[in-house]
Amino acid sequence: MILLEAAKLHKTYGNKFNKQEVLKGLDLKIFKGEFVSTMGASGSGKTTLLNVLSSIDRVSNGSIKIEGKDITGMKEKQLAEFRKQHLGFLFQDYNLLDTLTVKENILLPLSVSKTPRKEANQRFEQIASELGILELKDKYPNEISGGQKQRTSAARAFIHDPSIIFADEPTGALDSKSASDLLNKLSDLNQKRQATILMVTHDPVAASYCGRVIFIKDGLIYTELNKGDQSRQEFFKDIMKTQSVLGGVHHER
Ligand SMILES: Nc1ncnc2c1ncn2[C@@H]1O[C@H](COP(=O)(O)OP(=O)(O)O)[C@@H](O)[C@H]1O
Ligand SMILES: [Mg+2]
Repeated sequence: MILLEAAKLHKTYGNKFNKQEVLKGLDLKIFKGEFVSTMGASGSGKTTLLNVLSSIDRVSNGSIKIEGKDITGMKEKQLAEFRKQHLGFLFQDYNLLDTLTVKENILLPLSVSKTPRKEANQRFEQIASELGILELKDKYPNEISGGQKQRTSAARAFIHDPSIIFADEPTGALDSKSASDLLNKLSDLNQKRQATILMVTHDPVAASYCGRVIFIKDGLIYTELNKGDQSRQEFFKDIMKTQSVLGGVHHER
């Protein structure tokens, strides 16, 4: 089943004197239960694509359907409602609220949807234990590590069982051990909960945890790779090869 379908996406920044077309008619389909990543050189438009697909930003042209609903035509209020109900987010810099505890941060999507307290608590215990952060529930973000913060953000992204989770460089600020912990958890949750995840990354290791990798170049999809029944190591080698054809190694930090 197609979960997200984007057609002829265009995104232009700037004004008529200084225009930059970042997306140039890009088409994309994501199926329910997929864990997909997008790769591409720094400045190729990965974040731009994620932002328009996730309704953080508007397209200049084209259509985006999520669960069959065209989000490009929605008014801001309707879009805000759709976002709360159907979308989950994970950012490189965690976006946790410092004045709330781990548990309070994770419960945020449920408090806006007014989920009954008992159900909210059950959902919290479930997702927090899946992510191995239950014992941190009363701590504040400044009392936990980066890896723990990102697992807290992940719990917040999953707690309301969104249709799709958008993750922009979620391992970008983590050391390699915390990064692989997070990626293992994301891939578990993808399988156990049939959660659909779209992740932007410039890291071939991170991409190798996905089932499909989409490469962006010059505002369009350049090519894509499917993991199939390869091991993660084999898939990693494939990703490296494609990335080198695309234009070498890209450092974004
Ligand atoms: N809000 C913005 N206003 C103007 N230009 C932007 C904006 N966001 C991104 N860009 C430009 O669009 C291009 C793609 O950026 P981005 O999507 O962040 O790339 P990536 O995530 O692949 O590094 C870059 O040249 C960037 O400078
Ligand atoms: Mg980016």
